[in-house]
Amino acid sequence: MSIRSRKENHLNAYLNSDVQSEISNGFENYRLINESCPEEDFSALNFETDFLNHKISFPLMISSMTGGTDQSEQINRNLARAAQAMNLPFALGSQRIYLVNQKLETLKYIREEAPDIPILANIGAVQLNYGWTKNELLKLVDSVNANALILHFNPLQEVFQPEGNTNFRGLIDKIKELCADFPVPIVAKEVGFGISVSTAAKMADAGIRWIDIAGAGGTSWAKIEALTAGQKISAETIAPFGGWGIPTAVCIDQIHQKMPEINLIASGGIRNGIEMRKACLLGAKLCGIAIPLLRPALENAEAVITVLERYIFQYRAAVFTSSAVEKI
Ligand SMILES: Cc1cc2nc3c(=O)[nH]c(=O)nc-3n(C[C@H](O)[C@H](O)[C@H](O)COP(=O)(O)O)c2cc1C
Repeated sequence: MSIRSRKENHLNAYLNSDVQSEISNGFENYRLINESCPEEDFSALNFETDFLNHKISFPLMISSMTGGTDQSEQINRNLARAAQAMNLPFALGSQRIYLVNQKLETLKYIREEAPDIPILANIGAVQLNYGWTKNELLKLVDSVNANALILHFNPLQEVFQPEGNTNFRGLIDKIKELCADFPVPIVAKEVGFGISVSTAAKMADAGIRWIDIAGAGGTSWAKIEALTAGQKISAETIAPFGGWGIPTAVCIDQIHQKMPEINLIASGGIRNGIEMRKACLLGAKLCGIAIPLLRPALENAEAVITVLERYIFQYRAAVFTSSAVEKI
């Protein structure tokens, strides 16, 4: 199956079926401590956050989606416009298809729509084992004048795809070499199954300073791959993995406690501003959301902004009225 058809199948699965993980993101196990006397003026609170040499308005990012479907330009344009209007970062979905088809220049419109915000380029880390080198990665960054490059780690997803790229051998050494002199920060990211403390430690040893843990509890690639499965690896084979992964809250809490120097992005099932507040108190520098923005992005930028504003209002309210988080 071509990369384009696979992406189209995925998009349809996301839009038309339940692709939510069978386990929760874990935030219900943490409680915010109510603050009845905040001694602050709610309307004067400042939420500006430093991210990739920018001051973004809130610790919230549009997480990676899409990549090379016919609808992707419409989706990316609306996401980029919303991110620019809200002064929030925007992470692209995998740019692999554009590199394969030598059409990276068609992505120029993204930087044109969003000239002032951090933009993150994106590719599967495993591609480093399939012939791509620093040169190709630099092209991805240049195509959108990106402020960082996300390398996503998706071994389970690749295993479920009959034509998946499943040789992850020796990747950490290649990433170490890359980190030594890459011109923008490299963010290591999962795609919805979470990153363990030991994996985070390997990544940190290789020179990675930003990790997007993309934990379990939100969109599940096992569910998507089951919906789009063929005969070779059947839906029945994949189904038991519907609850696979480490919950987002657990990843953030554990990695931050062991490695407070690593900059963490919390994503994977973050569904409101209260969970954002919990993630930030547990150690995340910012949060990311993907699927709640997909349907709105098919409409227009205003629909995306409506969702982002809801998260932000809830987050502001939760910050104003909570002082700490405790494990229940
Ligand atoms: C339609 C769609 C496409 C995605 N494509 C990518 C991708 O190309 N690269 C990547 O790193 N993550 C990709 N993801 C994963 C998301 O960035 C995110 O980690 C995951 O969906 C969990 O967040 P959520 O629960 O808020 O959706 C995709 C997610 C969705 C919904």
